[in-house]
Parts: sequence; structure tokens; C-alpha cells
Amino acid sequence: MICVWIDTRVLVAAAVLGLLVERVLGITDARLVQGTNVNLGEALQFLREYDSEASRMCFRVSSARWAYSTNMTDHNKRRMIEEQTLQAKFDKLSWKRAMTFDWTRLPDQMVRRQLKFLITNSRASLSDEKYNEIYHLISEMKDIYSHVRICPLNNHETLFCDLELDPDVLRIMSNSRNHMELAHTWKEWHDKVGPPMKNKFMRYVQIANQAARMNGFLDAGEEMRYAYEESDFENQVAEAWKSLQPLYRELFTYVRRKLLQLYGPNVIRPEGPLPGHLLGNLWAQDWSKIIDLVAPYPEYTSMDVTDEMLRQGFTPLRMFQMAEEFYTSLGLQPMPPEFWRFSMFDKPNDRKVQCTASAWDFCNKIDYRIKQCTEVNMDDLISTHHEMAHIQYYLHYAEQPYLYRDGANPGFHEGVSNAISLSIFNPVHLHRVGLFNQNTDSYETNINFLMLMALRKVAFAPFAYLIDLWRYEIFQNGVQNMNSAWWELRLRYQGVIPPIPRTESHFDAAAKRHIPADIPYMKYFVALLLEFQIHSSMCFAAGHEGPLHTCDIYRSREAGRLLA
Ligand SMILES: *[C@@H]1O[C@H](CO)[C@@H](O)[C@H](O)[C@H]1NC(C)=O
Ligand SMILES: *[C@@H]1O[C@H](CO)[C@@H](O)[C@H](O)[C@H]1NC(C)=O
Ligand SMILES: [Zn+2]
Repeated sequence: MICVWIDTRVLVAAAVLGLLVERVLGITDARLVQGTNVNLGEALQFLREYDSEASRMCFRVSSARWAYSTNMTDHNKRRMIEEQTLQAKFDKLSWKRAMTFDWTRLPDQMVRRQLKFLITNSRASLSDEKYNEIYHLISEMKDIYSHVRICPLNNHETLFCDLELDPDVLRIMSNSRNHMELAHTWKEWHDKVGPPMKNKFMRYVQIANQAARMNGFLDAGEEMRYAYEESDFENQVAEAWKSLQPLYRELFTYVRRKLLQLYGPNVIRPEGPLPGHLLGNLWAQDWSKIIDLVAPYPEYTSMDVTDEMLRQGFTPLRMFQMAEEFYTSLGLQPMPPEFWRFSMFDKPNDRKVQCTASAWDFCNKIDYRIKQCTEVNMDDLISTHHEMAHIQYYLHYAEQPYLYRDGANPGFHEGVSNAISLSIFNPVHLHRVGLFNQNTDSYETNINFLMLMALRKVAFAPFAYLIDLWRYEIFQNGVQNMNSAWWELRLRYQGVIPPIPRTESHFDAAAKRHIPADIPYMKYFVALLLEFQIHSSMCFAAGHEGPLHTCDIYRSREAGRLLA
């Protein structure tokens, strides 16, 4: 029998019982109700079948998604949706079968853990009707998001309202220094994205919470946090933010002073918050695009090695070969032959493709690919190494059961890849690979470099932290006043305000795709902390001496062993 606890009194009792079970079995959590089957042989048999079927399903879905992402036709889109629908059905069925076991009482830790993953990673507790509904709500919101087109500032006669997020809106927000144009673009984007999906989002919150409660959680926010397997996760991230806050404040006040010099006190209040449209990014999450306005030593050459790459005749293929050589220099495996045969390294000109760089695991232990519309420039060179770190991670856990083939926690994959990026993007490494021919010991070069890193990493911290704080709050307290709740958090953590007043008819959180797309965000905050910890450990293993930003783990077998 499958039964579900909804009553909170039962939940309290369950929590107490859970604690007892935990002591006896060493289980981290026993909140989920389960069936009665405690036959280990049957559980093992079920998991074996699940493993091969889930891998096969994942291969089919990945293949269909790949086909669509690299060739965006209606036919390929339909095929992808068909496969995803099959997978959703399979997930629901697997959940039902997993629920017939009393997993807390099975005498095998691996079996318990896999069943727990199956049961908790799912909205399958919903009725078929609601399960379909939330799935459709999310895809409708994603559709709205990807179809928004906005108008440019109308200082010309002609007015074509056909600006897309990528590349048009992003380009204006990073390159324009006209605050009227920035405010206009910001407003257009926020006004056109949020309101059309507000009702859908409110319904989504309701159903997501229902699913979470049926799984024994208080709300969907608690369910999101559960993936970290840390009972005081919220406190841990709050403490981490508190320790970063003084550094963020210094960056903030420094940047505010520089922007004040440029835009004047009518646009920026000398003692006030920062208007979010002036920081070189639509969401004010990465300020590196205004490095030209804030660099401490603007007369010193930038670290951008793009010109040198062009001079040396780099190609996208050569960039991938260079990345592979980085990993083999650490003693890690080269990319498999299928990687070289099937990856997409360039943007094709005979069809429409989805250009966001990504690394793919086709779940068959053979097929691993990267999709990237590579251009010969420094950002893409770093991205190539970053994506290939994901492939290294895939290769290293290939022999694990399907349910374990993922990051050690939701922030880990990105943390590992970002740690590699820290080794690639620094003066010492770029010098070693013959791309940066300046003196790497120059004080001014190093300070400019550290400022650039601060604009990327330190500026990102409060943003990465608050996105899910907002979501946790909405899941817990409901959707009333959700736009003012959003701006309260933006002000409190980032010190950022909108360029023009907002109301509850707006829905500004939706301007960030992860909100309509139902993708958790706290993992990026966790990854930001992990990347420096992982980098620092690898540097220690490599015997690095001196400040961390000059560490490059290239050719260190010790660092490679530790990473593996
Ligand atoms: C793109 O997909 C269509 C099917 O919609 C197919 O006919 C075509 O051959 C594909 N193009 C490439 C280059 O794969
Ligand atoms: C375009 O210009 C007209 C008049 O010049 C003005 O009324 C209108 O608000 C402007 N629209 C935008 C989007 O700036
Ligand atoms: Zn990544």
C-alpha cells in the first residue's frame, strides 16, 4: 500500500520516528512514506531494471534534444517533445514501483540510497492530471520567455520591435553607456516578459507545493533544499554570504563612485543604492562588461588575448585540442573518438541552432559531446576548457549507477568546471601557453585582473544567493506581493534598485529564465564557493606558492589525481 502523510501532526510524529530510524540505520532522512516490501532481492532486481531502462530512456531523450538543439526544425521539436513525454511517463511509473518498497528497512545502504533518490526527486506523487498540468505550465512559460521581442529606443523614424534577448538585448545592456537607452531596454524586457506569465507562475507555485507536501515536505522550497542533504543548509549558505558581504560592499562602493563620475548625481545617488541597469548586465549579476569604466589602471593593457589568438591562426578545432591537452597534461583521459566525431564546434550556416555552450552525456557510456558556436576569442577558449571539465566529470562517473551519475551535490558540477576556468583564465597560464606576452609580475596588470575577477565573481554572489531566497519565500508564504518581495531582496543583498518604479502588475523575477524554467539557482551560489575551494586544494596539491590568482595547475599530475 502507498499512503501519503499530509497532516502536519503526523509529520511531527514522523520526524521523531525518523530520528530513531536514523540512529539505528544511519539514514539521513526517513520522512517519506513507503510501501511494505522489504525483500532485498526484489529491490535489487527493480533497481537493475530501472538502471538499464532509465539509461536507455536518457539516451533517447538526449539524442532527440541534441537533434533539435543543433537543427531547430518543427519536426525535430515534435520528436523531442514526444521523447520527453515518454520519459515523464516512465519517471512516474518508476516512482510508483519504487514506492512499493519500505526503503528505510532494506539492509543495503546503496539500495536504500537509490530508492530514496528515486522517490524524492520527483513530482510523480501528483495525480496524472496535475502532473501534466505543471509540466505544461513550465513549457508555456519557457515559450513566452523565448518569444519575447522588444523595441529599441525610438530616436529613429523606423521602429522595428524585433530585438531578441540573445544577442540584441544582452549586447545593448553590456555595451551601451547611454543611460536612457539602458533604462528603456531594461524596462521593455521586464514589462514584456513578466506580466504574460504571472498567472501561470502562480498556478505553478500552487501545484509544486502540492507535490512537495505529498512527498512529506512543508513546501516546494524545502524540497529544493533537500537535494543538498544538509539539515541546516539555509544557515550554512547564510553564513557563507555573511562572510562575503564585506568584500561585496567594498566593490559596490568603489563601483558606485566610478559610475557617479560618469553619470552624475541625477542618475546615481552618491550614498544610495545602485540602479540595476548601469552595471553592464540585464540582471546586474556580472559587472565585468563595465571594466572599461572601473579599471584601476586603465592605461595598462587588458588581459584579453583574442588578438594574439587571431594572430596565431587559432581555429575552433585547435581550441578544443588545446583544452584536451590541458586535461591530458594533468594525467586525465583524452576525449573519446565519439566526442571528436559528433560534437558541434562551429555554428553551422545551413540551419538554425541553439548556441548556448553545453556539455552532453548521452547516458550510454560511449557518447559525450560539446555543442558550442565557437568563435576565436578568449571567452570561448575559457568556455571550451570549462565545458570539457563537465565531460571529464561524466567520464569519471560513467561506471556508477544511473542515479549517481551527477554532481556530488547540485553545485558540484559547476564548481568543478569553474575551478578549471580559474586555472585557465589567469596571467600565468595564458603566458605559459604563449598567448599573453606581457610581464605577469606587473602590479598594475595583476590589480586590473583581480578587479575583473571581482566584477565577475564577487558581484555575482548576492545575486546567486537571493534568487532562491525569493523562491523559498514565495513557496512558503504565497504569491501575494511577490514583486515587492523580489525588490526587497534585490535591495537588501545586492543594493540594487530598478530604473523606474515597479508595481504588483509587474513580475520582474521572471526576467531571469531560471524562474519560469523551474531551474534551481542556489547551486550557482554553492558552485561559486566550491570553485575557489577546489582550486585552492588543487593548487596546494600542485605545490603552488604565492597568491592563489597566479596558480595554474597545468601539467600537475598531483592536481590531476586529486581532481579525479
Ligand atoms: C535537419 O532536420 C531535418 C528534419 O526536420 C532533416 O531533414 C535535415 O536533414 C536535418 N539537417 C541536418 C543538417 O542534419
Ligand atoms: C517614441 O517617441 C514618441 C514621441 O517622440 C514618444 O511619445 C514615445 O513615448 C516614444 N516611445 C518610446 C518607446 O520611447
Ligand atoms: Zn558549466
